[in-house]
Order: sequence, then structure tokens, then C-alpha cells
Amino acid sequence: MNLNKLGIFLAHLLPPELSNKLSLEGLKLLYSLGFFSSKNLKTPFHENNIECLGLNFPNKIGLAGGLDKNADYFHVFGKLGFGFVEVGTLTLKPQAGNPKPRVHRFSKEKNIVNSLGFNNVGVYEGLKNIEKNKPFFNGVLGVSIGKSKETKIENAFKDYLHLIDYVYDQADYIAINISSPNTENLRELSSENYFKDLIEKIMNKKEQLNGGNTKDVPFVLKISPDESMKNLEKIFVSCMDFKVDGLILNNSSIKHKKNLNGGISGNYIREISEKNLMFAKDFCGDKISLISSGGIMTAKDVAKRIDLGAELIQLYSGFIFSGTDLLKESLEI
Ligand SMILES: Cc1cc2nc3c(=O)[nH]c(=O)nc-3n(C[C@H](O)[C@H](O)[C@H](O)COP(=O)(O)O)c2cc1C
Repeated sequence: MNLNKLGIFLAHLLPPELSNKLSLEGLKLLYSLGFFSSKNLKTPFHENNIECLGLNFPNKIGLAGGLDKNADYFHVFGKLGFGFVEVGTLTLKPQAGNPKPRVHRFSKEKNIVNSLGFNNVGVYEGLKNIEKNKPFFNGVLGVSIGKSKETKIENAFKDYLHLIDYVYDQADYIAINISSPNTENLRELSSENYFKDLIEKIMNKKEQLNGGNTKDVPFVLKISPDESMKNLEKIFVSCMDFKVDGLILNNSSIKHKKNLNGGISGNYIREISEKNLMFAKDFCGDKISLISSGGIMTAKDVAKRIDLGAELIQLYSGFIFSGTDLLKESLEI
């Protein structure tokens, strides 16, 4: 058993949220002790550079939103070999999230059900963490933003516009999260009633900020895997019309049979994420960058998503169940 497998075995003896916290703190400790210096790492950092979203990525394998919610660890993930890390989802004010237990791990099936509900320290503290850790990070930093639990759906756009103001200077790209199943009503934002208006306001904001800024931050939209094909088409059309830079397909799914609240991630959503990626590629062609997330559990999955048109890959559950082994294998593709 290698060190990675032993670490995962031990961590998974504990309840998921606690084991996550301890594992992340453990990784940070090893990092601060110099364990991840380049001579200890066998990951091929170089050679894999790619251009996407107008940015230069050290490689196409990233960490998906939600593991480093408060931007405490992204520099450590960068040292492990991730080419990019999406921190957050951050909301305007700090939030405790939903009652515990709210993360359930199914180790044999390699699935996770979570109902966290954007627990985070809020954008102000999040930004302080970003400023502190960014000098030690060589990758691309995505900042995921979402509406607060208490914000009424009619006012959600104001949250996103404020959040953009806050994070624009520090983010390499901004991920607009309207697809978490764990904040009441959030997914309504992708419906006909709200979507076009929301995305128009967000992209106008981007233009306004670009105007007075030398920095052109790409905006990507994270989409639910539970959208109908008809609504997906509408989302894609608006995104192309308003020149959204990229799409993340997908977030977790509420279409599962576990008797639990929240969205499922991992093996269970592999097929639906592949299907949505294919559909997006078919519909949008090369007009928008596609980032694949959802059920990417093996290096074979990574290769398939790239074949299906993904320019970038995001790991979450695969990393929870296979750790750095998956990252290393993925970087060898
Ligand atoms: C415990 C947990 C927390 C998550 N939190 C967030 C979040 O805050 N923001 C976000 O955009 N996605 C979040 N996600 C979704 C993941 O980023 C990812 O899109 C999803 O899990 C599908 O990928 P996977 O099947 O590889 O896990 C979370 C997922 C899990 C399992």
C-alpha cells in the first residue's frame, strides 16, 4: 500500500466532513514541512501547458469547486500538481450551511451525497485568504461565487454583481454557480424566468470592469446535470449570445434514490455528465470553452472527456476516493 492509499484508508475511517478537514490540514502541514518540494514530486508539471479561456494553464487537470471553500489550501493543491483550483463557493456574508450530517460517502460505489449549502467564511475573509496564499500558487485560480441563502431570488443578481466587484482583481477566472442543489431556489436562476436577464447583467458587469481595467477576467457558468435538453439549449444560446467564456458541466445531481437530502457526485453521475458534455459540444462547437466535472474517477474518464470536447477537467469525488494517484495518472495522459 503506497502512502496515498494508506492516507485515504485512514481518512475514510472518519466521518466525511471531519476526515476532509483533517486531510486538508494534514496536507497543509506536509506542505509547510517541505514534503512537496519538486524533488519529492514525480508529477510531470511541465510539457502540459495549455491555453484556455485566454489564460495559460500549467496543465488541464483542476480541482472542482467546494473542496477549498475558503481558499485556505489552493497553494497546497497547486504544489500537488493541479493546474488550476476553483475556490469557494463564496457568498457575500459568512454562512454556516445546512445542519449536519450533510456529507455522506459511499466508498464501495464511490459516490458522495452532500447537502452542505454554501458553508463558507464569506467573500471578505475568503479574499484575505486568497491574498495570503496566492504568492505561493503557480496555477490558475478560479473563484466560485453564489447567492446567499437569505437573498431572495428576485435579488440574486445583486449578490452576483457585488461578488464580482469583490473578487475581480484577485481571480484568474470567475465561476458563476447557479447549480448547487443545496441553496433553496438557487436552480431557478437557470429557468426562463431569470436566466437571460441574470447572464446579461453579469456579462454587462464584466464589460464595465474590463473597460476600466487592464485585466480581462473570463467568466464561466457552472450548470446542473438535471436540466432538460430543452432548457440546456436555451442556456447555451444565451451564453453564446452574451459571450460567456466557458461552461462547467456539471454540478452534483438531485436525481438519485438515496434517502438523503442533497446532490449526488461521483460514479453515479458519470453518464449524465458525459451526455451533457457531448450535447454542449454538439450545440456550441468551438464557440465556448467546455470544462468537464462529474464522475471523472479514472484516467480513462479523463481521456474520454477530452475526446468528447472538454478543454479542462475538474476532479472532486475521484480525488476524494483515489487521491494523488488519480492526479498523477491523469497528468500522464
Ligand atoms: C462535498 C461537496 C461539496 C461541494 N461544494 C461545491 C461548491 O461549493 N461549489 C461548487 O461549484 N461545487 C461544489 N461541489 C460540486 C463539485 O465541484 C463537482 O462539480 C461535483 O461533485 C461533480 O464532480 P464529481 O462527480 O467529480 O464529484 C461539491 C461537491 C461535493 C461532493
